[in-house]
Amino acid sequence: MIAIYPGSFDPVTCGHLDIIERATGVFDHVIVAVARNLEKQPLFTVEERMELLRQACGHLKNVSVDCFDGLTVDYAREKGAKVLIRSLRAVSDFEYELQMALMNKRLNPDVETLFMMTSAEYSFLSSSLVKELAYLGTSVNGLVPKCVEEKLLAKLRMSRAGG
Ligand code: COA
Repeated sequence: MIAIYPGSFDPVTCGHLDIIERATGVFDHVIVAVARNLEKQPLFTVEERMELLRQACGHLKNVSVDCFDGLTVDYAREKGAKVLIRSLRAVSDFEYELQMALMNKRLNPDVETLFMMTSAEYSFLSSSLVKELAYLGTSVNGLVPKCVEEKLLAKLRMSRAGG
């Protein structure tokens, strides 16, 4: 069975990777799908986010990385996937996730949203927090895959140099 793990992944963190790794043990194939056109102002382009995900998931055989426009349920239909994976970090995620899962169910009743609890050590983590730490010159070691740490530092160096 194919599952889709959609998100913004700006950038992928160890929390996301933990979910992806655990999902690969449950599903035959996991498509990690970067959503384009979100209202968020991303630091990384979609292509950069996909490349970082590919590097971070390089050790996982049954994972592919893709991107999509429009509705997640339409993308799932196009890929023949009946499951969307989402993660819950804390109670605060619940309301937003419930709303999204119910709307997705209304849009396509054939697609189920399955929730995985984020591992405790990553329950406080978010892509924005990681970017803020890096911006303030604090190490993000252990919070993001090595490739992300390097790219994050390079990106910040570039923006500080005005490039
Ligand atoms: N570990 C660490 N961080 C995690 C995490 C985990 N396991 N799970 C989520 N997060 C963080 C992310 O880093 C992100 O942090 P940020 O806000 O600082 O960037 C935050 O939680 C939310 O992330 P994400 O899971 O990527 O959700 P999103 O709100 O960025 O994206 C989509 C949600 C893409 C799935 C949703 O907007 C969507 O489906 N869009 C397509 C259009 C559509 O179908 N709309 C109708 C929906 S009903």
